[in-house]
Amino acid sequence: MSNEVLSNLMGESDSFPPDQDFAAQANATAALYDEADADREEFWASQAGRLHWDTNWSQVLDWSDAPFAKWFVGGRLNVAYNCVDRHVDDGHGDQVAIHWVGEPGDSRDITYAQLKTDVSKAANALESLGLRPGDRVAIQLPMIPEAIVSMLACARLGLTHSVVFGGFSPAALRSRVDDAAARLVITSDGQYRRGKAAPMKENIDEALAGSESVEKVLVVKRTDTEVPWTEGRDLWWHELVDAQSGEHTPQAFDSEHPLFILYTSGTTGKPKGILHTSGGYLTQAAYTHNVVFDHKPGKDVYWCTADIGWVTGHSYIVYGPLANRATQVVYEGTPNTPHEGRHWEIVQKYKVSIYYTAPTLIRTFMKWGAQIPQGYDLSSLRVLGSVGEPINPEAWLWYRENIGAGKAPIVDTWWQTETGAIMISPLPGVTATKPGSAQKALPGISAKVVDETATEVAHGSGGYLVLDKPWPAMLRGIWGDEQRFRDTYWSRFADEGCYFAGDGAKYDADGDIWLLGRVDDVMNVSGHRISTTEVESALVSHPSVAEAAVVGASDETTGQGIVAFVILRGNVVADEAGSEEAIAALRNHVAKEIGPIAKPRQIMVVPELPKTRSGKIMRRLLRDVAENREVGDVTTLADSSVMGLISAGLKDGK
Ligand code: WTA
Repeated sequence: MSNEVLSNLMGESDSFPPDQDFAAQANATAALYDEADADREEFWASQAGRLHWDTNWSQVLDWSDAPFAKWFVGGRLNVAYNCVDRHVDDGHGDQVAIHWVGEPGDSRDITYAQLKTDVSKAANALESLGLRPGDRVAIQLPMIPEAIVSMLACARLGLTHSVVFGGFSPAALRSRVDDAAARLVITSDGQYRRGKAAPMKENIDEALAGSESVEKVLVVKRTDTEVPWTEGRDLWWHELVDAQSGEHTPQAFDSEHPLFILYTSGTTGKPKGILHTSGGYLTQAAYTHNVVFDHKPGKDVYWCTADIGWVTGHSYIVYGPLANRATQVVYEGTPNTPHEGRHWEIVQKYKVSIYYTAPTLIRTFMKWGAQIPQGYDLSSLRVLGSVGEPINPEAWLWYRENIGAGKAPIVDTWWQTETGAIMISPLPGVTATKPGSAQKALPGISAKVVDETATEVAHGSGGYLVLDKPWPAMLRGIWGDEQRFRDTYWSRFADEGCYFAGDGAKYDADGDIWLLGRVDDVMNVSGHRISTTEVESALVSHPSVAEAAVVGASDETTGQGIVAFVILRGNVVADEAGSEEAIAALRNHVAKEIGPIAKPRQIMVVPELPKTRSGKIMRRLLRDVAENREVGDVTTLADSSVMGLISAGLKDGK
């Protein structure tokens, strides 16, 4: 990347120093960095003290069989005891653990004492089915309390859960069930989506036809939908679980006992089963939830809007917050059901103080307009989080201004399914935040930006993001595929023993880290490396653009040409904004923001963008459009009609 392009980018770096009052009460202090630098293992040993161990470990880290790490070697603990019973034993049984809000308007407040009973009953039920430690259980459930209870019941028994997102197709579920050889599947009759009950059990039956591993299917009644039933295999949750005793004595498991497998897509077709274990994972989930969100048990009301089917739901709805005795909101539905103010109505009602969401949703809120959150009392909010993709400065500033009253610190948290917990993020009360930058590896974590030869790049330059030291919540492998684990993450910088995250990043002049998107999303235009994210960010900073997706389309002259797809803001008339002059103005705007080299070759105004169910833009499909190819496989789209809308719009000449 040319220096000219970089210096233009650096122009973005406004910075917001921490508020004095916030800093005075913050969980994190600048001294944490020094403490961790002085002795990393000692630092993690003290963080592990956040948990209850039945047997202490004899060694903090065993890295002798790298890249397979063992953390807190010889230690034994029960993860569910740590997330539930412990708080009841400490006298907090009456504290609400979960304010659950159903999409149709029903709700439940579940205390830690109630959660302990619910998890114990579920654990007794699973034991009665003959499941034994180490067995795998697949869970496909909507965002209902039973989803959390099921995960914790598995953890309590040493069963390894594999949660599969509720929107995945039967084929996707089947491949995951087969890969892990799950003995039990936990699901529901149906799920509420945008105000309607959609069937779920039906898909499960289709998925499991002829399955060799699955013995039982446990079904939660949620929507009261008629379901097909296989006698001898299917069981109702309310019949089996409700009848159990609410007492269950947890047993301690080895620190390295497998806690869960979570499948994530790679660059090839077959999803990878990312394996996480117990002691190290829970230590880092609890530590990060405490310092990154400044969480105060018994005082804060925390809300992470992720789905339990993704790693964010695992680490920042279930394990981290519950280990830290959080009171949290869990919401079942979509953000615009029944109206676009739903999230803010919930924030107001429960006085949510910490709110953690994804940039794609923030940009959607921007599109809906600031007048919507303005209609609610959001004064309880004191920390805002972002995760999942680089957040463009425009969305960051909008979030701070309109949701955080121009005051709440924003923590832009970089991490992955593979890292298990947050790795790079500002610390609220400590870091002067910069819109668009995740900034620094957390105390105890080491991340570097390096070039092709694994040499750290200079400040002001870009390269590959690597993690050069093992961390407690790191993946312990890919389920059943040791070689793929080595090849995928450890081969590119093998000599240096670095984990390659697959992301591009750069240091700014201060040495802060800016994530630039997946390396495969980096375009090469006339020999210049330009990130799709940077161009998207530039486009979104124009007043008429709500959202943008950029792809590199092959170009005879320049290698790749930049093609942008933009959604306009609600108040802009499409015909006018799609006019030649308006498009030229947008192209010039990008040139102004980044440099002439980043000017899109083509800009298309579209009504929607193709996104996966986890909210990631499927650039592959847009590349097909940009390169005039037939559009490829759309089965993983959240809404499969989007590509039709895009093509129809383009044919209409819009
Ligand atoms: C991207 C989600 C920039 C990144 C927790 C990573 C981010 C991938 C950020 C992992 C962020 C996540 N800034 N990029 N704050 N957070 N990413 O496994 O490309 O669903 O490699 O985990 O999301 O996605 P995953």
